[in-house]
Amino acid sequence: MLSTTDNIFPVYHEILGRPEKEALLKQRSKVIWLTGLSGAGKTTLAKYLEEALFSKGFFTQVLDGDNIRSGINSNLGFSDADRFENIRRIAEVSKLLVNCGVITINCFISPTEEIRDMARRIIGKDDFIEIYVNAPLQVCEERDVKGLYSRARRGEIKDFTGISSPFETPENIDIEIRTDLQTIEASVKQILEFVLPRVKF
Ligand code: ADX
Repeated sequence: MLSTTDNIFPVYHEILGRPEKEALLKQRSKVIWLTGLSGAGKTTLAKYLEEALFSKGFFTQVLDGDNIRSGINSNLGFSDADRFENIRRIAEVSKLLVNCGVITINCFISPTEEIRDMARRIIGKDDFIEIYVNAPLQVCEERDVKGLYSRARRGEIKDFTGISSPFETPENIDIEIRTDLQTIEASVKQILEFVLPRVKF
């Protein structure tokens, strides 16, 4: 029996490539992957980071868990398999954006080494900048921006990361940001110091 991929013929050689697009945008594209607990500050940091990059003339796109899960991934939940599929699709979308020359800033819990390794493999390690947005669980729980931790503690949400579903400390990171210990401005500065030399044309 033919597999579904037997009749697929990807075309890469006839279309404009990444170098032309990076030249047009005058930047090198990368994926800046923010991993961390819910409430650690990934989305906030991404917003400020994007503004900082954009104001310096870089062309960017933020992909965020809550947005993506209400659109392209609206059929996925929080089982291990669904989280894996969530990140697999995001990684593929990110790869498309990187091939368009876009600096992509991703905010996903991406809770396990296996999941983060898969994303790195799909995107390619040279284009993958991994940042651990770290605030202790207790701090995230105190912040409880969306009220999800208290609901998870009451048993109203199952498989909640940090409470009833694991978060593995990232081992292969480029940068760690302690959002409970430093300001957003200091965090953005720390990230820019690493990122700017890598995205400059
Ligand atoms: S991931 O684990 O698959 O990477 P993702 O970043 O897309 O997760 O989505 C996390 C967001 O979904 C959280 O910020 C939170 O608002 C919401 N959410 C709803 N249910 C859960 C849950 N069981 N575990 C974690 N986050 C949840």
